Amino acid sequence: MKILGTGSALPKKVVSNDDLAQVMDTSDEWIRTRTGIERRHIAVEETTTSLAVEACKKALEQSKVSIDELDLIVAATVSSDYIYPTLSCEIQAAIGAKNATAFDISAGCSGFLFALATADAYLRTGRYKNALILGAETLSKMMDWSDRSTCVLFGDGAGAAVVSAEGNQLLGMVQGSDGARGTVLKCKNRPVHNLYKQEAGQSLAYSYTEMDGSAVYKFAVRTVPNAIANVLEQAKVPVADVKYFLLHQANLRIIEAVAKRMNQPLEKFPTILEECGNISAASVPSLLDQIHREGKLSKGDKIVMAGFGAGLTWGACVLEW
Ligand code: ACO
Repeated sequence: MKILGTGSALPKKVVSNDDLAQVMDTSDEWIRTRTGIERRHIAVEETTTSLAVEACKKALEQSKVSIDELDLIVAATVSSDYIYPTLSCEIQAAIGAKNATAFDISAGCSGFLFALATADAYLRTGRYKNALILGAETLSKMMDWSDRSTCVLFGDGAGAAVVSAEGNQLLGMVQGSDGARGTVLKCKNRPVHNLYKQEAGQSLAYSYTEMDGSAVYKFAVRTVPNAIANVLEQAKVPVADVKYFLLHQANLRIIEAVAKRMNQPLEKFPTILEECGNISAASVPSLLDQIHREGKLSKGDKIVMAGFGAGLTWGACVLEW
């Protein structure tokens, strides 16, 4: 497969750390030193679908693939506007991709890597030729805004890529999951509640994101370097040959710890979390779009993309641009 175009989108409303400090017991200093995050974009007018559509249109325009040639749409999200229809079907309708098969993937912050792996597998079989893959989230609606330990970390956004069966850009891919540790990062769906099951005192209020921050930190700094080492071995690419490591943008301290464990300079790890916080499945494709549009990728460059998150899940790949 080959990436032919990338795109990304953020909501208009910018909320700085100082803005948050006006409405809750936190500070710019606490957030910045613990996470590296300076501000985030929060959806007010936008929805997950509208952000996704904006990112997808930019990726499609750059790719030069026509709407009619698009035959697969795989959207990664945990915060779609509807439980059904899926985000990918909403996108299909909005862009008029009538020849595409569309479905969603739920793999937390690893979602874009899982979408890429799925599209690649389909493209390899020859069943589809041109796929639109994306991560899009409005996590702000899934935060308990009275819980300062989680709500300051996340933001809203979308990132997309158009990938084609022509080319051999993907040199390696690894994925994994550990459901046994899933409770460290979770958000419940609706409880079972019907005519035959109505428990006294049962809360039907929405649930919000709950996280054991230090468990997630430990998971990330152990798992990501291993996943990257495995995928580089699979691809037979020496770590020194990698130009950029595009990691899921959860927290600068995680990225610094991974760089240190891998004995690689931090300059090889570009970031966007200062601007947008943790945008889950949207972070890796948005970062890819940023460095791509800044002209930082040349033919032959080797890059690693790695995601990790709820599930727990992780994925890493090596691309030759
Ligand atoms: N502002 C000010 N103080 C705060 C805030 C806040 N927003 N949040 C928590 N605190 C306080 C706590 O109440 C606690 O106070 P206490 O000592 O009086 O009890 C103190 O700060 C320290 O709290 P900790 O949770 O121990 O803070 P820590 O230094 O561990 O940092 C953090 C928390 C940043 C979440 C850290 O655990 C971390 O980096 N975790 C990684 C997880 C992560 O980034 N998750 C993102 C989403 S998951 C994903 O994308 C895969």
